[in-house]
Amino acid sequence: MNKDLRNAVIAGNWKMNKTPAETTALINEMKPLVADADCKVVLCVPFVDIAAAVEAAKGSNIEIGAENVHFKASGAYTGEISADMLVASGVKYVVIGHSERRQYFGETDQTVNLRTLAAVNAGLTAIVCVGETLEQRELGYTETLLKYQTKMALTNLTKEQLKNIIIAYEPVWAIGTGVTATAEQADEGNGYVREAIAEVYGKDVAETVTIQYGGSMNPKNADELVAKVNVDGGLIGGASLKAEDFAVIVKAASK
Ligand code: PGA
Repeated sequence: MNKDLRNAVIAGNWKMNKTPAETTALINEMKPLVADADCKVVLCVPFVDIAAAVEAAKGSNIEIGAENVHFKASGAYTGEISADMLVASGVKYVVIGHSERRQYFGETDQTVNLRTLAAVNAGLTAIVCVGETLEQRELGYTETLLKYQTKMALTNLTKEQLKNIIIAYEPVWAIGTGVTATAEQADEGNGYVREAIAEVYGKDVAETVTIQYGGSMNPKNADELVAKVNVDGGLIGGASLKAEDFAVIVKAASK
């Protein structure tokens, strides 16, 4: 197991928060605080904030991501945004299959896979989210479910394309609840994801894939979480809306 083979990535997921003007202000506040980061720093923002975010982040080490992408290149898909549109807007990353999208917007393992293929084929790095509900955990299905979601999301992706894949293990019960997985639970969940990748693509490839933890990661618990061998950074919701909190997490992943 070699953590050095992988990039630690700290990615903010702003969800449905911030106007374009607020985006500019928050990124300007964050820039000096994360300038010395020894990990990748990404902010995934609402579609309408992308232009402001790309402009504000120019010349800094912050890269911009989106929070979703459609799987078709163009056409009659009212309200959707294509991967090429994101690339043309300066976006480098995109969150796919977040549990809120699975829960509230009918996202399935199949559409997560199609969106992932579209994103990677367009040159984006996909941050694919997987995670079990509390009920699934209590029934003992965590490993089965994480492996299934991971393999489904990566269906038809080549080994080469895995270079543009990040998986975020986000236990649904830990998202926005203030209940964080213990560092051991995070490491175990991330380990199942890595095993699933190894089962399909081989151990050597699996060792190179960045696997984040997400779910109530904050300045207090970040150190312990990102120190775990299978945890290569984090996907941060609430704490990414506060410059100082986000910067502390970036520092933790830079050690
Ligand atoms: P949280 O969200 O950090 O607010 O729990 C994480 C996420 O949903 O990506």
